[in-house]
Formats: sequence, C-alpha cells, structure tokens
Amino acid sequence: MLTAAGAAILPPTTLAASRTAWWIEARFGMFIHWGVHTVIARDIWNMEHEAIPSEEYKELGKKFRPPAGCARTWARLAREAGQKYMVLTTKNHDGYCLFNTKTTDFCATKQACGRDLVAEFVEAARAEGRRVGFYFSMMDWIHPDGIKCAVDEGARRRFVDYIHTQVHEICSNYGKIDILWWDGPWPLNAAGWEADKLQKRIRTLQPDMIINDRGAVDGDFWTSEQKIEPDKQGRPWETCMTINGAWGYMAADENWKSPEAIIGNLTTCARDGGNFILNIGPESDGSVPVGSVRVLQQVGQWMSKYGETIYGSELCKVTRSNYVNFTRKGNTLYLHVTRWIGPVITLSRFTSRVKSARWLHDGTPVRFEQTQQKDPREPSIGFPLYRVKFTGLPAAAPDMMPVIAAEFESEPVQDLKFPRWAQK
Ligand code: GLC
Repeated sequence: MLTAAGAAILPPTTLAASRTAWWIEARFGMFIHWGVHTVIARDIWNMEHEAIPSEEYKELGKKFRPPAGCARTWARLAREAGQKYMVLTTKNHDGYCLFNTKTTDFCATKQACGRDLVAEFVEAARAEGRRVGFYFSMMDWIHPDGIKCAVDEGARRRFVDYIHTQVHEICSNYGKIDILWWDGPWPLNAAGWEADKLQKRIRTLQPDMIINDRGAVDGDFWTSEQKIEPDKQGRPWETCMTINGAWGYMAADENWKSPEAIIGNLTTCARDGGNFILNIGPESDGSVPVGSVRVLQQVGQWMSKYGETIYGSELCKVTRSNYVNFTRKGNTLYLHVTRWIGPVITLSRFTSRVKSARWLHDGTPVRFEQTQQKDPREPSIGFPLYRVKFTGLPAAAPDMMPVIAAEFESEPVQDLKFPRWAQK
C-alpha cells in the first residue's frame, strides 16, 4: 500500500518486526532497579510489606543523594559484560521519579539529589554504545489516588492524567528511547488506563521504540519473570531475572547467581528464540555491589570469546543432552558444554549429518564419528537418525563452558520424541 505521497505503508506486523530486529539480534540486556528504596536497602517491596506510611517514606527523598557519574560505571559494566541494552527504573511502584517531572515533588530534581538521574543514565548508556530503555511502573503507591482510582471516577481521572503526563515526559525529554518497559498496570484495566490512547500517543512521540506487554495492552514483546518461558503465541519474548534474589538493593542478600548459571540462562533464552535481561540493584550511592561486579565481569570474559554464539542466533530445535546446551546460526550448531564429562561427548537423534567441528576459542578441529540408525519406532519407514561422538577431547574442561561449533549439512534438528513413551 502507498500513501498519497507515495511512501509505502507497512502492515503492523512488518512494522513491529522491523522495530524489534535490533533487539532480537542483541539477546542480552542489563536491568537496573534503583531509587530511594536503596536507602533502607531492603528491596522495593518493603514499602508495602512493612506498610510504611507515605509521609514517612517520602523522607527517603532527603537521604538519597547519589554522586554524579555512577551511571557511567553501570554502562561500562554492561559493555564489558556484553549486554547490548540497558533498562532503568525511571519510576518503580514507590512513586519516586528519577526524572524531572512537573507532576510531583517526589522526584530526583526536587529532592536532595537535585539532578535528573534519567538524563545521566541516558547520556551514560549512549556514551558506551548501549541502547536505552525505560522501565515505568503504572502502579504508584505514593499517589493518593493510586488505589481509589479503581472505585472513584474523580480519582481515576486525576491518576490517569498524572500517569499519562509522566509517560509523556519520559517519552519527550530524553531524545530517542529504544525500549519502554511497562510494569504493574494494577489496579486498572486497559479501559481504565485509557491505554489505547496512551499507546498511540507514545507511538507518535517515539515511533521506533519497542514496548513490552505489561502496559495493559499488547506490546512488541512478551515478558516472563524469574523463569525462562517462551511465548506460547510465538511473539518476541524476554526473560528478566535478578542476579541475587532481589530487584532493588538488598544489603542482606549476597546470594549471587554463578557466572555459569547466568551464561546457562542466557544460552537457554537464545536457544529458545528469546532475550535475557539480567538485573543489578546498585546501592544508594550508585555503586554496584562487588559480588554483582565480579559475576558480570566473568560473564563478560566468556561473552568476549563466545558472544557470537548468542548475538543474532536463531531458534534452535536441538535441546537433548544433560551436559550440553545449544544455540544455532544457520546450519551451525554451537555446543555449550555445561558439565565436562571427559574425552567423549555423545549426542544423538539428529536428522542431518555433521560435516565438520571445531573448538570456537582457537579454531582447532574436533574429531567426530557418526553412525546412522533407523528410528526404532518406525522400522518399516525409518528415517535415518545420526548419533555423533566428538572424540579426543581433553580430560578436563579447556575453559569455563567451552563451545564446539559443529557444521551440519542442513539445519541441525533433533528428533525429540521419546520412543518408549510413544509405545505406551
Ligand atoms: C515485579 C516487581 C517489580 C519489579 C519487576 C521486574 O513486577 O513488582 O518491583 O520491577 O517485577 O520485572
């Protein structure tokens, strides 16, 4: 279809696909939960869990005075870790705005901090070549109409105007934004939020921005929290996960996930066609807890060698092994050896043949043998299945989660049916 001026109008699905292309290619992002809650260092939800009255909570605004420059540290860390985009909580459920807003005094510019923390974040992320994302919670615990809005039309009007204005501000005052990461549309539904109207307004302000699914209406991508779960409808998807057990800074939680666990989760997301965004919770002075830094740096060392198996990888239909994980690009299957079992790695049930194999870190060829067998379930028809042994491997792992690249003669696919179960 063409407009009067002759420009092509793309159908909405094509538009969405072109918006999300860079993001799907990127696969790995950094999530940052930060705000006044870091002063009490017990994560975000403590305001609700401990029923802290708004007036008492607002006092935190006087104590949250991070030094300038911390966003640069996060952005450098994201670059070193291989995280291509960064998403910051511009406002979480507690209502404190890290951006300058005319809607409330409970924001960074009008409290002790005295600076626009969102502006600093955007500048830092761009300076390190990271794409920029804004998390924004629709639910707001500090606004007096934040609960009443569900039952009182006057309150709803005021609250919806408040939220729409804030969203307008973050979409207008910081240049081009790459991602809008909605959260918590409670207690209203799409009609209550006037979500369609808001979404249209956002699309006008930021036509290329990609939007998640938590804004009461459908977005460009689907989110799953703390677990890896591809979207059942086949939409682009992202798993968000904490690096310890908390979103915001929690002084008492030093239970960091290991680099192997994080790389494993990233690999599984990429294998299943999704993205992985890993959260950090900086302290109130903006510093990133040492435990998080250590883990991210190790992930970064791995990504600098093996990132090509993640970025731009495609949906992979090979999953069956209990010591190897997989990603795929074209006919190349990447074997991420998660548990080193010794000199021979055996995989089976491939529907096509391996042509060559090499270690990814130094290109050395890997020897392999393959045998062909008939599918035992269908002896009369029996398409061939290949069993492949990669041999002559060292007794100990040559690296943390080393990768073998195996070239197949067509797209590597495994027959994943379980013959014994089928015979029941
Ligand atoms: C949950 C939490 C919120 C956090 C979000 C991240 O919705 O309520 O605080 O920002 O998860 O996905």
